[in-house]
Amino acid sequence: MACANMLLISFAAAALLAACAPTAEPAATATAPAPATSAPTTTPVPTLAPQPSPTWSPLRTPPDNPSTPAKIELGRQLFYDPVLSASNDMSCATCHRPDRGFSNGETVSEARPGAPPRNVSGLWNTGFNAFLLWDGRETSLESQAILPLTLPNEMAETPDKLEAKLRDIPAYVDLFDAAFGGGADAVTFDNATRALAAFQRTLISDNSPYDRFVAGDASALTEQQQRGMDLFFSQRTHCSECHQPPLLANETFRVVGVDSEDPGRAGVSETGLYGAFKVPSLRNVALTAPYMHAGQFATLEEVVQFYADGAGRAHDFPRVDPLLKGFDLTAEEKSDLVSFLEALTDESRLPQVPDVALSGLPTATEENR
Ligand code: HEC
Ligand code: HEC
Repeated sequence: MACANMLLISFAAAALLAACAPTAEPAATATAPAPATSAPTTTPVPTLAPQPSPTWSPLRTPPDNPSTPAKIELGRQLFYDPVLSASNDMSCATCHRPDRGFSNGETVSEARPGAPPRNVSGLWNTGFNAFLLWDGRETSLESQAILPLTLPNEMAETPDKLEAKLRDIPAYVDLFDAAFGGGADAVTFDNATRALAAFQRTLISDNSPYDRFVAGDASALTEQQQRGMDLFFSQRTHCSECHQPPLLANETFRVVGVDSEDPGRAGVSETGLYGAFKVPSLRNVALTAPYMHAGQFATLEEVVQFYADGAGRAHDFPRVDPLLKGFDLTAEEKSDLVSFLEALTDESRLPQVPDVALSGLPTATEENR
């Protein structure tokens, strides 16, 4: 890609400028992204291995399910509609609450076959993830949706019954037809999962104060948040070596070692380590407490303290990642780091929650909005 075009992409513009500038020195130590300026700059950028991707990769959309406005609208209606559950009282949004970063504020949810009970994943930017769920055992939003829809302890619906219920609701027949064509025949379980996936791919959060700062607005982050950013991208904490821009995530499974009996990746892959989990995105993380796969930590302060203490090393968890050796930060530096994590919030594309579902059922309780 030409440098001129790359500059149009706002994310990590500083990194791009530095990458394009012939005089840019390879930075020996990691430094937080500096705000972009109109003149090329040699400001050092995070260059800890592996090199963070300076641009957002495309959404992961299967070729047979391109997103269209009609499909997304159908998916939005389905996501909030309790008619998708056998008991007509549970929707995706019962657990993935829009007011809580699409998590639910609880420690863990019902256990699923093959895994202990886990914290509800937030769904912002889930459309970029190559691996879904904490242990990465699903790789597409379309197939992932089958689990909550059909598991006996979740929505417990059968494909046949769901199709029959939806075919009885004229507004759904119209929407399925608009999204997939074919009239009432378009109302299928598979198409419902496709529409849900298309809707979830719209949950993009990419305009946080951090993004605006990197794009050149030096006032977007407070001084405290900037100090926190420097710590996040430093070899004192190593945070950015796993939580890599732009998603502040990465597609590997790592042993952090929070106290739990959950095998994590080892439960789904022969090569997976016991207690290894996907490195989750930290975008909108301030909205999704409590934290970690089993919701052990109520606050971001507790998470930072856990890492400072050497993560799982503090309680002899086996094979904790070599990057997690603990660090000394002053109390002020710890709150700087937390304030940076709070600068990763952007809900500007929060979709509207329907007041009443197309089935006529209430979509949510007051506090669930
Ligand atoms: C009873 C609560 C519950 C309901 C209802 C529910 N989920 Fe979830 N969801 C969870 C939990 C718990 C996890 C994490 C499970 C794990 O990692 O093993 C999760 C994870 C996910 C993920 C993974 C996100 C990622 O990036 O890794 C997606 C996507 C998802 N749910 C979509 C849906 C959709 C779509 C629906 C409705 C059809 C739905 N969920 C209904 C509890 C729920
Ligand atoms: C070795 C890779 C690695 C490093 C380094 C690392 N993390 Fe993590 N982080 C993870 C993994 C893996 C998880 C999920 C662990 C789990 O649930 O058991 C996680 C989870 C988190 C969560 C909870 C997210 C959620 O949605 O529940 C936060 C917050 C977090 N990390 C912040 C940080 C900060 C701040 C640093 C630097 C002090 C850091 N991480 C360093 C791999 C890493």
